[in-house]
Amino acid sequence: MKVFHLAAECYPIAKVGGLADVVGALPKYQNEAGLQASVVLPFYDRKFVQENEFDVVFEASNLLGTKRYEFEIWKERTNKLGFELFLIYIPGLLDRPEVYSYPDEREQFIAFQLAFLDWINWSQQKPDIIHCHDHHVGLIPFLLQHSALYKRLAKTVTVFTIHNGQYHGAFGYQKFDYLPEVDMAHAGLLDWNGGINPLASAIKCCDRYTTVSPSYLEELSVNSNGLELLFYLERAKGQGIINGIDTEVWNPETDPMIAAPFTPAQPEAGKLKNKQALCEHFGFSPDLPLISFIGRLVVEKGADLLPEAFTRSLTEHAGKLNILMLGAGDKETEAALTQLKAKFPNHYITYVGYNEELAHLIYAGSDFLLMPSRVEPCGLNQLYALRYGTLPIVRRTGGLIDTVLDFGDEGGYGICFNQSSVNDICYSISRAVTLYQNTTHLQLLRKRMMGLDFSWTRSAQQYIQLYESLKPTI
Ligand code: ADP
Ligand code: GLC
Repeated sequence: MKVFHLAAECYPIAKVGGLADVVGALPKYQNEAGLQASVVLPFYDRKFVQENEFDVVFEASNLLGTKRYEFEIWKERTNKLGFELFLIYIPGLLDRPEVYSYPDEREQFIAFQLAFLDWINWSQQKPDIIHCHDHHVGLIPFLLQHSALYKRLAKTVTVFTIHNGQYHGAFGYQKFDYLPEVDMAHAGLLDWNGGINPLASAIKCCDRYTTVSPSYLEELSVNSNGLELLFYLERAKGQGIINGIDTEVWNPETDPMIAAPFTPAQPEAGKLKNKQALCEHFGFSPDLPLISFIGRLVVEKGADLLPEAFTRSLTEHAGKLNILMLGAGDKETEAALTQLKAKFPNHYITYVGYNEELAHLIYAGSDFLLMPSRVEPCGLNQLYALRYGTLPIVRRTGGLIDTVLDFGDEGGYGICFNQSSVNDICYSISRAVTLYQNTTHLQLLRKRMMGLDFSWTRSAQQYIQLYESLKPTI
């Protein structure tokens, strides 16, 4: 079975968040299971692309409105990532260092989708499945079915995975002529609330959509930034499949980015060495409990609550707790978090920015990882934390409900709370401080969490079963 995965991000080429981790891992595990899965990404002027060799396998030109652009398809020569990697290169549009936030983002992603369709159409390819991830590639299902240009491919099965239902990629009808000729009798399939909404269109037109956890599937019909009714109506087309983690990249026994290796059977000595390295770097005492946060500093992640919650907790547990933040995002939150350092000089630090190596060391060296998310479609941080023996403190939402059980419950191993509120965060931090005093209990929970299996093996199989179930419609 031949599958193309299309997305804006893929680790290690271009990563902003968990979307990249999933697109960089799922195809690899699908190939190991016997599929022929490839990844198609926009070209990025970044390290992986500069340091690896590519062949140009296709060249053509197309129109975006009235503007003609040339494009090339680049293929990585060695399949070193465990899958065929294709990049779509468009000089002046898809040749930039950053993934998002360019003013012509809509043009970028429309041109990306059109170039992909032109390429597989003109080169006479016949994939079994086109698997699109998030709104950046949400127009593909509609275009396949309702543009005469791609008639040959109209019956190709499309699967659409929602990693984040808060973002839709919507734009106004003034950009309608960026699309090729489409069957106007079906143009309503592009629309939500008087605009072109790629996420809504994908949900309406794909053969099946998936969410990255079962709980998130249920949540979308009550919270999806205006698409609730659509998710309610299209519920029968949806399936929740929990993300896995790439256990080759995220393995405390072999991870080259951490200070000392450790195993699930004997984690304590190695974990302590990582904690010592981390604490030394930031001037903390390794004897105190260390609670960390890694992530985008946005409202969805509950980051705006952290300055007040940390002030309260660090005051309440004065001299008995260290907190480490790694993240970037909302400027006000960044500033408020940075200022806390002056108030708690020996017990608090914020590292503003993106740092993959530091993230690995934080997962390995912290005692607890805090995730007070308002919305969390799956969450990978808690899965990495569990694998590295770091106890997750999570709000019960989305994928966090499906992956973390409170240690107070039978067989549990985390700290869970109900509300994204300062009170709940502080209460949970107090539970962590108390738990830290009980070394035997903490060590038992650590063994328990490190014995869990969140590898891709099971979830990759679920996607394959889903593809198989759609085959008769091919
Ligand atoms: P999301 O995709 O919503 O940001 P996930 O939990 O799925 O959340 O994945 C986040 C991924 O991005 C994880 O791999 C995490 O380690 C990484 N990450 C987030 N922020 C940073 C940062 N500032 N530095 C390094 N890694 C980060
Ligand atoms: C999104 C979600 C996150 C999920 C990731 C990978 O960015 O916010 O919860 O883990 O995608 O699916």
